[in-house]
Amino acid sequence: MKIAIASDHGGFELKEALKKHYQSWNLLDLGTYSADSVDYPDIARQMVQTLRAKEADLGILICGTGIGISIAANRYKGIRAALLYSQDVARLAKQHNNANILVFGGRTMSVDEVIKYIDVFLTTTYEGGRHQKRLEKLDASE
Ligand code: RB5
Repeated sequence: MKIAIASDHGGFELKEALKKHYQSWNLLDLGTYSADSVDYPDIARQMVQTLRAKEADLGILICGTGIGISIAANRYKGIRAALLYSQDVARLAKQHNNANILVFGGRTMSVDEVIKYIDVFLTTTYEGGRHQKRLEKLDASE
């Protein structure tokens, strides 16, 4: 599975730490590439384009709190961006929501806890069934 990672300046440090921890995964780094200020909606759009082009199967997005970049990513059809803030939430984000972007807060979470959440998510299976029709409703037009 190919995983893309991206952050704004608020998530830059955490992004770099995750890249180091998961060196063997060869994460596709979409930026930002320094601690200089950038706008998280631009970073979210870049991630969505990458997933839509099937250049990656799963995304990791990081901003200061994880909130702004979640809001931005979830404006796009087909995107299910989940802010993971506990191991239970990480498990449920896969079992029930089959999230395709994992979101973290670079200023609110430690590297160690984020690594745990990623590992829980990746070792959990989507349940489908009653959840599938709900996911389909997410993408129904207004
Ligand atoms: C940038 O300063 C900060 O607002 C951003 O990283 C994020 O936390 C927004 O939700």
